[in-house]
Amino acid sequence: MNILLLGSGGREHALAWKIAASPLADKIYCAPGNSGIAQEAECVALDIADHAAVIGFCKEKRIDFVVVGPEAPLCAGIVDDLELAGIKAFGPSRVAAQLEGSKGFTKDLCRANGIPTAAYERFTAAGPAKDYIRARGAPIVVKADGLAAGKGVVVAATVEEALAAIDTMFDGALGNAGTEVVIEECLTGEEASFFALCDGANAIPLATAQDHKRVFDGDKGPNTGGMGAYSPAPVMTEAMNRRVMDEIIMPTLHAMAAMGAPYKGVLYAGLMLTAQGPKLIEYNARFGDPECQVLMLRLMSDLLPALIAARDGVLRNFDLRWYPEVALTVVMAANGYPGNYARGSVIEGLTEAANVEGVEIFHAGTKAEGGRILANGGRVLNVCALGRTVAEAQARAYAAVDRIRWPGGFCRRDIGWRAVERERERNQRVSP
Ligand SMILES: Nc1ncnc2c1ncn2[C@@H]1O[C@H](COP(=O)(O)OP(=O)(O)O)[C@@H](O)[C@H]1O
Ligand SMILES: [Mg+2]
Repeated sequence: MNILLLGSGGREHALAWKIAASPLADKIYCAPGNSGIAQEAECVALDIADHAAVIGFCKEKRIDFVVVGPEAPLCAGIVDDLELAGIKAFGPSRVAAQLEGSKGFTKDLCRANGIPTAAYERFTAAGPAKDYIRARGAPIVVKADGLAAGKGVVVAATVEEALAAIDTMFDGALGNAGTEVVIEECLTGEEASFFALCDGANAIPLATAQDHKRVFDGDKGPNTGGMGAYSPAPVMTEAMNRRVMDEIIMPTLHAMAAMGAPYKGVLYAGLMLTAQGPKLIEYNARFGDPECQVLMLRLMSDLLPALIAARDGVLRNFDLRWYPEVALTVVMAANGYPGNYARGSVIEGLTEAANVEGVEIFHAGTKAEGGRILANGGRVLNVCALGRTVAEAQARAYAAVDRIRWPGGFCRRDIGWRAVERERERNQRVSP
């Protein structure tokens, strides 16, 4: 099969790496890709927002299957356009991708179908939104309805902070994403991510993960796209996974099908594990980044047939095998991220780092120039490792990080701390 993968981050490098391992894959292209992805696929300078250009490329190169990594092309309807042109593609349709593209859409779907989520209201004007905030009090959560690349949510500790968030959003700070807002109850508990592969009618659980959103050690500082992750999430027991499938994922699939917009693709549920049980924080319509990287490391089975079965609607009875090991990834970012950062600093030592046992390095934002690897983004590298325990995976990942010579970059030194602590407590209990 000839495959085209769309995207350019660490998620897409992990997908390219896994797809390249499939005996079904002959030629793999990636648009636009990066210098790490170039080790697995031929990178092509296609503008993926130009659907006609993508379709033209697929016809010229006889592409059998397109895998879409990021949310923007999904919400722009790339899968609809490809399928209409007779090209098979993995991912939800434009309407189904609203599960990520409109927080209000998802909240209404939850309310109509009894899916547990925070209490909420939707607003299209600042006045009524502020009245609602004053009536409910703080803490309270203000969310832009549309895609905001992780910048559209304010968890406000005070009423003033929430009112200010309303002004920022309706003043157009987030563009079209903020012309409508969702205001919701503030939930408390531990967060976890749950991934399911869906074919429109059936879903199979993939795996669970937890990520670190804050930029500094101890989960401090501003939010980022994600500074690290590990899988599985120790809080997600078998019983909890079952509840998430029964109470959240399956009712969503049924509701989307009943609406005439069956959901195909990866459904990524952001969860809050509250005292009342798991509640949906949000859906994403694709693999998480960097969660995808740790999932791919743990996946024993061939990924490609699973993606094709999801697209073809034949996931029922499909079986995926996972390594029992823990996978952990440390994100290395350019100095200054998530604020302003420079591009073009030189990264050395990647080969030595990749030689650490159990380690795999994915590129998130790099480019090759004159035989050197240069930083070309905010999040630049994902240093991943498998281990029998979280502690082992963490030690291996940081051993690899320490072999990378990159004065222009930094990383957190405590990825997985919560899981490592849990593991240590458990070990103390079993061997006093
Ligand atoms: N209702 C809520 N209660 C408490 N925290 C929340 C709530 N909604 C969102 N959050 C916090 O804000 C983060 C971002 O919100 P989310 O809905 O996932 O938006 P996005 O990922 O699109 O920025 C979550 O990971 C969570 O930490
Ligand atoms: Mg989120």
